[in-house]
Amino acid sequence: MLASAATRLLRHYDAHARALPWRAPPGAPPADPYRVWLSEVMLQQTTVATVVPRFERFVARWPTIEALAGAADAEVLSEWAGLGYYARARNLIACAREVAAMGGFPSTEAELRCLPGLGAYTAAAIAAIAFGERAAVIDTNVERVVARLAGIDRPVADSRGAIRASVEAMVPADRPGDFAQAMMDLGATICRPKRPACLACPLREECAAFASGDPEAFPAPKAKRARPHRHGIAWWVERDGAVWLVRRPDKGLLGGMAALPGPEWGDLPPAGPVLASVAWGFTHFTLDLHLVARAEVPQGEGWWQPLATIGEAGLPSLYARAVEAMEARRLAA
Ligand code: ADE
Repeated sequence: MLASAATRLLRHYDAHARALPWRAPPGAPPADPYRVWLSEVMLQQTTVATVVPRFERFVARWPTIEALAGAADAEVLSEWAGLGYYARARNLIACAREVAAMGGFPSTEAELRCLPGLGAYTAAAIAAIAFGERAAVIDTNVERVVARLAGIDRPVADSRGAIRASVEAMVPADRPGDFAQAMMDLGATICRPKRPACLACPLREECAAFASGDPEAFPAPKAKRARPHRHGIAWWVERDGAVWLVRRPDKGLLGGMAALPGPEWGDLPPAGPVLASVAWGFTHFTLDLHLVARAEVPQGEGWWQPLATIGEAGLPSLYARAVEAMEARRLAA
């Protein structure tokens, strides 16, 4: 299934490949490794539209890796101005000198990975595009395309292994560089994050996300970090139809608000009997607030609030819900 998708994608690429100055035309022998490397470094955090004229100017000034290796740092840095991420420019110079000293780019993904500034993505891209190695080239666009195609509805961060396995199964032996660039083009122009143009997509017939009717739902959005869970105790001290309320300290959560009294919230539920519990979500944690009966008034300031006028006490929602839970319990009794 995935192999036939690759064939279909390449056929589409033959007709629709974007003409970019660092690319060989579809099906032609691979492009110059120097130009592939330079374009991939420029494209790391910069859009294709911005890169194209800057790339042309750069290669007009330094047409080969040897020419670049011989340039002064300051010249290269000033040519890079406006492309941002100056660490990239510094690595670029270091890499150019190392490659020139080696007599040219190494041709395998593993060797390329050892050069300054070349991460997993860039090494795989150069190996596939410039040297025809069957390397799996995976950037965020490719992750999205594959998650949709294979119907992986988990967040990308939880499915990198499955995504890599799918890409590895897809990469064709004969045109891995065109395949990589076809995937990039598909992600950039058709399989966009929002409003993908599925009707123009050569892979829609085998796409699980398209079949689901809601392709944008793939991959699932990044999981929110799990909030820690805490337990709180609120003492229920009731006399003659009134309940003992306190004011929370000015600083901190629910600062200065009216509240039921209780100890500081912690990690464990109360050991003894509980009258009622309320589940609550704060921004940074979730809370179970447990109501515990108590006969004596706790130390510290507070007041007796008649239950008949509890709505006027200015209780924040958490404590209002706790009072409601007590009333529900009373009604059920
Ligand atoms: N983005 C990163 N590398 C690219 C490439 N070779 N072609 C198009 N877009 C890209």
